[in-house]
Amino acid sequence: MVAQKDDRKFSVLIAGGGSTYTPGIVLTLLNGLDKFPLRKLKFYDNDGERQKKIADATAILVKERAPEVEFEATTDPKEAFTDVDFVMAQIRVGKYAMRSLDEKIPLKHGVVGQETTGPGGIAYGLRSIPGVIQLVDYMEKYSPNAWMLNYSNPAAIVAEATRRERPNSKIINICDMPIDIMDRMAAILGFKDRNDLVFRYYGLNHFGWWTDVRDKQGNDLMPKLKKYVAKNGYWVGGDYDANTEKSWEETFKKAADVYKLDPSTLPNTYLKYYLYPSWVVKHSNPNYTRTDEVEAHRQKLVFGECKRIVEAGTAKDTEFKPDEHSTYIVDLCTAIAYNTHQRMLAIIPNEGAISNIDPTATVEVPCLFGSNGPERLSMGKAATFQQGMITEQNSVEKLAVDAWQEHSYTKLWEAFSLCKIVPDAGIAKDILDDMVVANKDYWPELK
Ligand code: NAD
Ligand code: G6P
Ligand code: MN
Repeated sequence: MVAQKDDRKFSVLIAGGGSTYTPGIVLTLLNGLDKFPLRKLKFYDNDGERQKKIADATAILVKERAPEVEFEATTDPKEAFTDVDFVMAQIRVGKYAMRSLDEKIPLKHGVVGQETTGPGGIAYGLRSIPGVIQLVDYMEKYSPNAWMLNYSNPAAIVAEATRRERPNSKIINICDMPIDIMDRMAAILGFKDRNDLVFRYYGLNHFGWWTDVRDKQGNDLMPKLKKYVAKNGYWVGGDYDANTEKSWEETFKKAADVYKLDPSTLPNTYLKYYLYPSWVVKHSNPNYTRTDEVEAHRQKLVFGECKRIVEAGTAKDTEFKPDEHSTYIVDLCTAIAYNTHQRMLAIIPNEGAISNIDPTATVEVPCLFGSNGPERLSMGKAATFQQGMITEQNSVEKLAVDAWQEHSYTKLWEAFSLCKIVPDAGIAKDILDDMVVANKDYWPELK
């Protein structure tokens, strides 16, 4: 949809300025000034040293490409959150050091160790909740009319917590996984981009299914996609996947096996952890997990490129480029700013969107995005398989938030035990007890 022209220019704050995803967003914003004009770009992080490395390179980028845009990086919340129209949040409370433990502790007990899934995801949830709520409070105090688009994970648990703790706040929780998959669908089908596809999708975050994918003329594209996914998963290969890391290649390919469980839908890649946990554990190295890979690859590339830009004093030939993560969040801001009612996914209170799921569940469904935020679209009834899985996983997420609110060891043990990937309550307790120690600087003291 074409954005209406008017003379507004926006002020954007990236909270978690030190994130590895920040340069991609900066590039997307600078490339798209004709569609989403900026007057100010700010970074906020509670680790000034980490943020500075990205900010110093960004200052050069902004000066070269859009000198009229004011840029500043700060660790001071008042300075950061004052005079802001949009907050793009992507903080990682506990940083990679804690992510590493989220992955390694469960694996030590023979259970999937993953950033947002199972015990690792729950542990991360209890660290993230207060961090994200603090960002919401800063926004409401210093820029009460602003919107926050939040990527900070685990988005499902964070969204459930903000639904309860800050029900009227203008935070919209989002995820780039379905976006990445829809880019792949477009590539598989030979379409220019994901915005050529009209889709129906429902579930929880990192836990959902497409029930329909069509082109703009209404032609059903599911049969062709299903045929492809049954064989290759979402792996495109060739130039498209030239820079895709090994572990993601495995995940995109495994979608073929996940798909087979319900050939009437197309699955989110994250379902592999819930449906094939033994396979995942067998394919994991407890001493070298995804965090080690990210530190050796993405983090190194991003910070290396920032250093190179700063040393060269120019970003003219930078390798940084837009990706699905950055284009999605900028598209969302554009849709809100210009009231376009573009159909996009968000993680929001169910309230009937999936008719046979608890109305208070926090679900991921398509919404129309306009100046009042997201308006959810009705996705109808979940089939028995999905209804069962969603209900169980949603209870896990609710118990995790209960545990945080009530400081309850028992609720957290229940969350771990109910989780599909944990075989029994004894193992759940062993993992939990290790995690209580590892998270002592972040979690409330559990009773
Ligand atoms: P990263 O560690 O590189 O960056 C996170 C930054 O947040 C760090 O600079 C850190 O200092 C800062 N930070 C931590 N706690 C903070 C706090 N309380 N206040 C302010 N700043 C704080 O991490 P990354 O790999 O770039 O990922 C960033 C976040 O985005 C993570 O939560 C990740 O899970 C999430 N993410 C989500 C999606 C999604 O689909 N929702 C996609 C990609 C990344
Ligand atoms: C996808 C998910 C994010 C998750 C990320 C992890 O983009 O949607 O929620 O944070 O993958 O990627 P990483 O490369 O850090 O393992
Ligand atoms: Mn996600």
